[in-house]
Amino acid sequence: MSLPHRRLCRGLLIVFEGVDGAGKTTQIRFLDQHLQRAGYDVVCLKEPTEGPWGQKLRQLAQHGRQHVSPATELEWFLQDRREDVEQNIRPALARGQIVLLDRYYFSTMAYQGALQLDAEEIRVRNEAFAPPPDLLFILDIPPERGLQRVRQRGALSHFERLDYLERVAAIFAAMQFPYLKHIDASQAPTTVQERIWQEVVSLLVRKVEGNSVTAQEEGPYGPKSGHTDYPISTPTPSRQGCLKTPSADAVAEDTA
Ligand code: TYD
Repeated sequence: MSLPHRRLCRGLLIVFEGVDGAGKTTQIRFLDQHLQRAGYDVVCLKEPTEGPWGQKLRQLAQHGRQHVSPATELEWFLQDRREDVEQNIRPALARGQIVLLDRYYFSTMAYQGALQLDAEEIRVRNEAFAPPPDLLFILDIPPERGLQRVRQRGALSHFERLDYLERVAAIFAAMQFPYLKHIDASQAPTTVQERIWQEVVSLLVRKVEGNSVTAQEEGPYGPKSGHTDYPISTPTPSRQGCLKTPSADAVAEDTA
């Protein structure tokens, strides 16, 4: 039996960050599957994007920075993100979807901040157009361990240098925001999954208006599915439900 889609009054933005090899992709895949099984409408996005600016940036990572200055590199990340926010992120939030985003402006603060640019100024420039997340996971892992994982998958990019990633990791480690959860990603992937799932359920309990939480009745796999791996209930819309889809403007205001 398929579950009805659970519509949120406004979408939610959940961001995953961390140095290369921290395990973002695995964790996003897990969360996507579990939220979908629980009936939520999910969209997965990634930065840099596949758009023109994102492609330029991937080339930079692949072939080296050469004559591109840190300031120019920052502008390209900002251009790529502007397009992503306008074309993908805000429309998905306006549709009431849960957006799982693989890298966002916290990566710019850390990676371009590690090139001697001012991380705080980068944050301010981004927040002028990019909505802050509802939940931000930074998957903390020693860069050396992350690089080992990346190396197993293939050749390292020009961004994946140990001394550089040590500086990136130090900026990530120092970040503090009310919506930020640092997760120790050197633990077993299932332990990391469980920790992330708990935080997401707690966010849904807070954000799905008028929900009633039915402990034990429902797990992440759907009602009475018999799975007990993650015995945490997900919020259910109340009698009135939370079914109205807000206007794009309302979401923009809400998330600006
Ligand atoms: P990513 O897509 O995570 O790498 P891959 O797909 O090759 O696994 O990101 C590409 C690189 O871009 C990564 O090393 C981090 C870097 N990056 C920045 O330097 N600044 C940014 O703002 C973002 C989003 C990524």
